[in-house]
Amino acid sequence: MSALKYEIARDLARTHTQTEYTELSRALLAERYPLRQPKAFVHTYGCQGNVADSERIKGMLSAMGYAFTETSEEADLVLFNTCAVREHAEDRVFGNVGALKPLKAEKKDMIIALCGCMMQQPHVAERIKQSYPFVNLVFGTFAIHRVPELMYRVLRGGKRVFEIAETQEAAPEGLPVKRDSLFKAWLPIMYGCNNFCSYCVVPYVRGRERSRAPEAVLAEAKEIIAGGAKEITLLGQNVNSYGKNAEHGVNFPKLMKMINDLPGDFRIRFMTSHPKDCTKELLDTMAACEKADRHLHLPFQSGNDRVLKEMNRGYTRKAYLELIRYARRVMPDLSITSDIIVGFPGETYEEFRDTVSLIEEVKFTSLFTFIYSPRVGTRAAAMPDPVPYSEKSRWFSELLKVQEGIAAERCAHMLGNTYEVLVENETKEGCGMLTGRTGGNINIDFPGDKLLIGTFCRVKVTGAKNWLLTGELSD
Ligand code: 5AD
Ligand code: SF4
Repeated sequence: MSALKYEIARDLARTHTQTEYTELSRALLAERYPLRQPKAFVHTYGCQGNVADSERIKGMLSAMGYAFTETSEEADLVLFNTCAVREHAEDRVFGNVGALKPLKAEKKDMIIALCGCMMQQPHVAERIKQSYPFVNLVFGTFAIHRVPELMYRVLRGGKRVFEIAETQEAAPEGLPVKRDSLFKAWLPIMYGCNNFCSYCVVPYVRGRERSRAPEAVLAEAKEIIAGGAKEITLLGQNVNSYGKNAEHGVNFPKLMKMINDLPGDFRIRFMTSHPKDCTKELLDTMAACEKADRHLHLPFQSGNDRVLKEMNRGYTRKAYLELIRYARRVMPDLSITSDIIVGFPGETYEEFRDTVSLIEEVKFTSLFTFIYSPRVGTRAAAMPDPVPYSEKSRWFSELLKVQEGIAAERCAHMLGNTYEVLVENETKEGCGMLTGRTGGNINIDFPGDKLLIGTFCRVKVTGAKNWLLTGELSD
């Protein structure tokens, strides 16, 4: 028996640490691919929380010896990190997994793995088990830190691996991270959600709120800054409840101030803020932190009090508008964005019009607008939902039209002004055009050298066509 095979046989009788599993997987991969490095394609669906998780998964895969590719055809491991927030996101995943079947038939050695929010739902894991026999590995959000062990069990051969743990541990620390961008970094400060908005699946698939220790967040922030980050986005489903009930007494505003006080030339952003926990202390702290972007993403979901109550949101239209008024008082140049759900079960057209009137009153910079999608196990999924989808689509278009008008007006106001932007990349069209984002989270396209990507530049707005802004470098 080879030393490796002996180690595998021994493994059946004991468990290892994740570091040991990383080494064991590395050895199995070296045996499987003696002449080249194996390649992984990690594809992420959904929110920035998933993007941050994927960066940790890639860190663990990299430690096992994987290189990375952007196509399934080139990959020895295809891993989809999935999103469950709406049905459309789930349908895309099922479609894309199905599309891998012929490839897998050709490349028997290829490993197909699925993880993330969708997989944390037992009915989805069961459907994969029954209908997608070519999928080798499925794991939920609670098992991310165990990727080395799960991959080892797959590489060792034998049964397919399904790991949908029901218990969540404390926020995992010490995982390696392979960041997609050096200048734009995601920094998770908490995981999970306790709010149980009646339409939302997140509390079921991400578990209860778990905040990272302030020392761990600060250590990662320092590492990111040392690596050249120009923008740090603090992530959590509800960052405003960071540190709640913890002994250290560091709440979200205090944490933001601590990061703001770290030396370096970088911006701080955060998402998502829940209006019910958005305090004056937070808005005052933002105003006092010179590195905090003048951007607040504050989802209001609906402008009607009855619907808000049915959604279990915990605030009223009036309270939301008061918050906005206060935020603008302390930060007059604040850019505000929001999330909206159209067609919540039982919502009437008149109630929907309250959402439109709130948009007209606040004049958001931009909106993420969704048609309600029923989610298994949520309270709203059991509510009567008499309005047909086609009708909700009409309301949706009506709302978008109003928002387009507001955005065009805002863009026209920006004409002639100069903004500091963080240059993100070339525009899709190329032709020497770059795109940069202002502190208010507004994109401006301008001609410039690719070398400017990842730096701050001052750009004067010279063109505003509907909601698209163009400009030129200014000194
Ligand atoms: N249907 C439609 N939109 C939803 N969102 C969350 N759950 C649902 C659902 N079931 C939206 C909310 C949330 C955003 C991330 O996704 O607007 O703020
Ligand atoms: Fe979902 Fe509400 Fe939690 Fe946001 S705050 S993740 S919408 S339950």
